[in-house]
Amino acid sequence: MATFTFFGGKGGVGKTTVSSAFGLKCARAGLETLLVSTDPAHSTADVFDQPFSDDPEPVEGVDRLHAMEIDPEEEVDRHRQEIRRQLGQQLSPAMVNEISMQLEMAHRTPGAYEAALFDRFIDVMRDSDPYDRVVFDTSPTGGTLRLLALPEYLEKWIDRLHHKRKKSIKNFERAAIGDRQARRMMEGDPILARLEERKETFAFAGKTLREDAVFHLVLNPDELSIRETRRAVDALEESELDVAGLVVNKLTPAPDPDEDGRGARYLRERVETEQERLAAIHDSFSVPVVAQIENRVREVKGDLLEDVADELAIDPAAATHASEPS
Ligand SMILES: Nc1ncnc2c1ncn2[C@@H]1O[C@H](COP(=O)(O)OP(=O)(O)O)[C@@H](O)[C@H]1O
Ligand SMILES: [Mg+2]
Repeated sequence: MATFTFFGGKGGVGKTTVSSAFGLKCARAGLETLLVSTDPAHSTADVFDQPFSDDPEPVEGVDRLHAMEIDPEEEVDRHRQEIRRQLGQQLSPAMVNEISMQLEMAHRTPGAYEAALFDRFIDVMRDSDPYDRVVFDTSPTGGTLRLLALPEYLEKWIDRLHHKRKKSIKNFERAAIGDRQARRMMEGDPILARLEERKETFAFAGKTLREDAVFHLVLNPDELSIRETRRAVDALEESELDVAGLVVNKLTPAPDPDEDGRGARYLRERVETEQERLAAIHDSFSVPVVAQIENRVREVKGDLLEDVADELAIDPAAATHASEPS
């Protein structure tokens, strides 16, 4: 199985850019690498000037680098259909209709998007054998990161549902004592089976995320981004997930010392403010800053992507505590 690197952070800070650069760095270092994006805007396709799909495809011109783009909306749909299909195999059409309606509603609630993505992430982790490293460019909502941090919580929640379901079947059996039909209900109960499967899935996710994954957070040198990052670090660490580094992106470049026009003075002041914020980041976070990337004039792709890859002080081979690429 591969090891996993996640890049999180709010929308626009540079997750896709940094994930792509890190993917490139890993591939250049000799690791079979899969880059997984969940951005509905297909920004990975923009970075590499190449369309990607739901299945891993080789990135043209970069040996050992593969990429896939998961469309979260499509994923919610697929997720719903899959659940309906599974239930359809086990329940009567009338029951499926009833449950379908409930599913329909459930999939419109906030969180459905993250839940669907989470399941897809787990699929990718389970199918990661061909790769040494899988790089996840996580969704801008941050909700997926929170979900990823919660497998234990979900496990407990499933336990409770499981317990309740068992109890209600037991009550039913008690009422129909001596009736063999009722006993068979517990054994073949599709909901119990599904809960058990979900529990196993969450256990796998929790173990994999703690043992084989590291998280990096991308931020910009502004107060809002710093606050958000602090919350994300706290949430991840509370769940005993390894936050390995902060990537500060879009730093303002300093003008040359002899420049003194209006533009130069503006840049100089900005740089000064950002330096103060950087110092605060270094001081107040327990997580090291692993890259400070300047804002470029153009979008980061091609040669610029190579430059950014060089600026990331994240060792591809040591990107997990398990180290040793398999
Ligand atoms: N260091 C940088 N210099 C210049 N443009 C950047 C830099 N980092 C990101 N960008 C640009 O900013 C935009 C948002 O970056 P992106 O990586 O897509 O952010 P996210 O994935 O977090 O939403 C993109 O157009 C990207 O090319
Ligand atoms: Mg993105």
